[in-house]
Formats: sequence, structure tokens, C-alpha cells
Amino acid sequence: MYCVKKISEDLTWIGGNNRGQALFENVYPIPEGVSYNSYFLDDEKTVAFDTVDYAISRRYLENLAFVLDGRKLDYLIVNHMEPDHASVIEIVAQKYPEMTLVCNDKTLKMIKQFFTFDVESRVHLVKEGDTLSTGKHKLQFIMAPMVHWPEVMMTYDSTDKVLFSADAFGTFGTLDGKIFNDEFDYDRIFLDRARRYYANIVGKYGNQVQAVLKKAAALDIQKLCPLHGPVWRSNLGYILYKYNLWSTYQPEEDGVAIIYGSMYGGTENLAEILAARLADQGIDQIVCYDVSKTENSYLIGEVWKYSHLVLASPTHNTNIYAPMENFMTHMEHLNAQNRVVAVMDNGCWVPQAGQKIKNRLAEMKNMTVLEPSLSVKSVIQEEQEDAVNALVKAIAASLQ
Ligand SMILES: Cc1cc2nc3c(=O)[nH]c(=O)nc-3n(C[C@H](O)[C@H](O)[C@H](O)COP(=O)(O)O)c2cc1C
Ligand SMILES: [Fe+2]
Ligand SMILES: [Fe+2]
Repeated sequence: MYCVKKISEDLTWIGGNNRGQALFENVYPIPEGVSYNSYFLDDEKTVAFDTVDYAISRRYLENLAFVLDGRKLDYLIVNHMEPDHASVIEIVAQKYPEMTLVCNDKTLKMIKQFFTFDVESRVHLVKEGDTLSTGKHKLQFIMAPMVHWPEVMMTYDSTDKVLFSADAFGTFGTLDGKIFNDEFDYDRIFLDRARRYYANIVGKYGNQVQAVLKKAAALDIQKLCPLHGPVWRSNLGYILYKYNLWSTYQPEEDGVAIIYGSMYGGTENLAEILAARLADQGIDQIVCYDVSKTENSYLIGEVWKYSHLVLASPTHNTNIYAPMENFMTHMEHLNAQNRVVAVMDNGCWVPQAGQKIKNRLAEMKNMTVLEPSLSVKSVIQEEQEDAVNALVKAIAASLQ
């Protein structure tokens, strides 16, 4: 039985939700599930935009058959070749032998890497600015390399002013019966998910996102159709504004994310004390996480959100505590940058984690290490009161 959602007279969502999937890309927890969006354009020619993840292929194929209603499929436009959208291409190609694949030359290479069917005989290659008329609708192709794969492109329907934006503007979280952004309390339900999605999946490629945002600015866009999450039909400036902040590595909030590691509670106590003292200074945006407990992708989301970070770690076999080291590796791989960072460390004999954290921060772009740092041996001592106050003052002053 089909399950589709009408977007406009000619456009229908034919994707699906997956709530059973524990991890996205087998890394990022998605307790909120995720939607895999595919779209169908009903014109003189019939057009599908991307497919879905293999896990929901059956529903997708039923949806596609339903919207085709006995017609043949003319075009499958492949905006992105990551298997969460591309894994059903071969089945669609077999089921609809008259279908032409519309993609760019990088995509073509990838289709051949993933599948064995004869692609060459049924591909229509496009490049930047090319157009394709499907009858009433005119489609234009916009290359979006490295947002977040090299072959990524977007398709603009200049008739209805719809941008099919691939993974950009997408989010974790299922659609639960609805489809449009304004049918949800987006801020409450989706903003954190969208940020976590952006930072972890696309965060590394800020420059490439900027490049495509500039191209998008030249278009009259009424709807954004991403490959995950709600379709944007109103208040597009909101998500474009967020994307501009995120892709230029500007914080959304003036506030402090304290991220600590601790085996026996000494460093944790330090984080608790700091959080309380910062709040005493009137700083209201403070969040505090145990790096061993909170999964990295959530912490990365907070790095994208807040202006200030505090990293606190025990010394562990002369190094940074491994869970903190791992988190910093995620930061580095995702190109985290442009934050003010305070450092606290702990060690029983020779505390070394603080210096090593600073060394790693120096490898990242535009990270300002706030002085003074705070170093303790095992647990904080009463005589370190001044040192704690100095750090609190420095953070508060920097937030002004
Ligand atoms: C396996 C292990 C390795 C450690 N390695 C070091 C070390 O190389 N240098 C050091 O000064 N302290 C080392 N320590 C001591 C911890 O840094 C110290 O106990 C610290 O106070 C722990 O902070 P916590 O209470 O927040 O867990 C080590 C502790 C453990 C359990
Ligand atoms: Fe992707
Ligand atoms: Fe995706």
C-alpha cells in the first residue's frame, strides 16, 4: 500500500521513514529516526528525484508504482550517490527499462562503482547550468561538489521554483505523517537535530556550502526539498540564515559548552564548580557534558552551537584521556574552528593533558585558547580558589 505526500499539484513525496535504524552511517545514533526523501514530478515526462535507503526500498517501490499509475518512468535524476539515497537505483533501472538516468560525469563513475547494469546506454549527462524540459517544467542543474560528496548536485525546477537540495538543509528525525516545515514546531523538534546532522555530516565542508549558498541566492526559491527531513515552504530565510552561520563556523549562541572527561570524579568536580561559578556571573547559556557518556555527534553539535568551549581532561598514560582525545579527533576531522576554548586538566603525578589539548587545538583553525588554564593534582584544593576565579573571570570577560 502506498504512502505518499502531496507537495504541490505536480510534485509528490514518495520517500519513507526509518525508526528502526539505530545508527546513521553506522556511526551517529538516531533515536529520533530519519526520513529518506524522494520526490516525483508528474509532467509530460515522469521524473523521480533520487531513491532511498535499501532498508525502505519496498515502500519506495510501491510509492513509485502508485504515482506512476501505469505510466512509464522517463527520468531518474541522481543528485547524490551516497547509498542512503542511491541504493535502489539498480532495481529502478531494471523495473523501468525505458528510464533515463540524469546525472553528472562524477555520478556516472560512481554508479558504475556501485552497480553492474549497463548505465552508459541510458544516461543523460548534465553539467552546471544545463537544463532539461519535462513538458511544463524546466529543470536546471547546479553542481554542489563536496556538499558533502564530490558528485553532489542540486536540481532547480524554475517553473515551480523548487530546489532539490540533496543532503543540504536536511535533518535527522522522522516526518510522522507531516511533510512541511511549518507543520512542525521546527525550533523545538528539529533545530538541534538539524544542527547535529549538519555539523557531523556536512560540517567539514563550510567553504563548499558557502559556494552553493551563493549560487542559491541568485535563484527565486519557494520550496526546498532536501533528502532528509521536512520540506521547506515558508520562512526559508530561517534555515538559510542557520546554514550561513554553520558554514562560516560562527556560533549561534554566546554561551559555554563544558566538556569533561573523568575517571574518578576529580575533573568532573572541576567542571561542576566552573559551571556553577559561571552561572553566578549571570551567564545563562551553559551546558556540561561527560565525554565518556555523551556520544560524540551530540558534542559536535554543541561545538557548532556555542561560542565558548571548556575542555577538561585527566592525564591518562601521559596523554589526553582517550575519550577526550577521540572527541578532539572528531572535532579536527570535521574542521571545527573559530571558538574560544578554556582548558582544564588533572593528573596524579605529572599533569600533561592540558598542554596536549592545547597542542591539538593549535592544529585546528582559529581556536583561541583562553588563559589562564587550570591544572589540578587529583582533586582541586582550597588554595586554588583564586585560580578558579581567574578562569571564571576570563571566560565571563571574553563573553562580554
Ligand atoms: C590508567 C591511568 C593512567 C594514568 N596516567 C597518568 C599519567 O600519565 N600522569 C598523571 O599525572 N596521572 C595519571 N593518572 C592519574 C589521573 O590523571 C588522576 O588520578 C586524575 O586525578 C584523575 O582524574 P579524575 O578523578 O577526574 O578521573 C592515571 C590514572 C589512570 C587510572
Ligand atoms: Fe549524503
Ligand atoms: Fe543523506
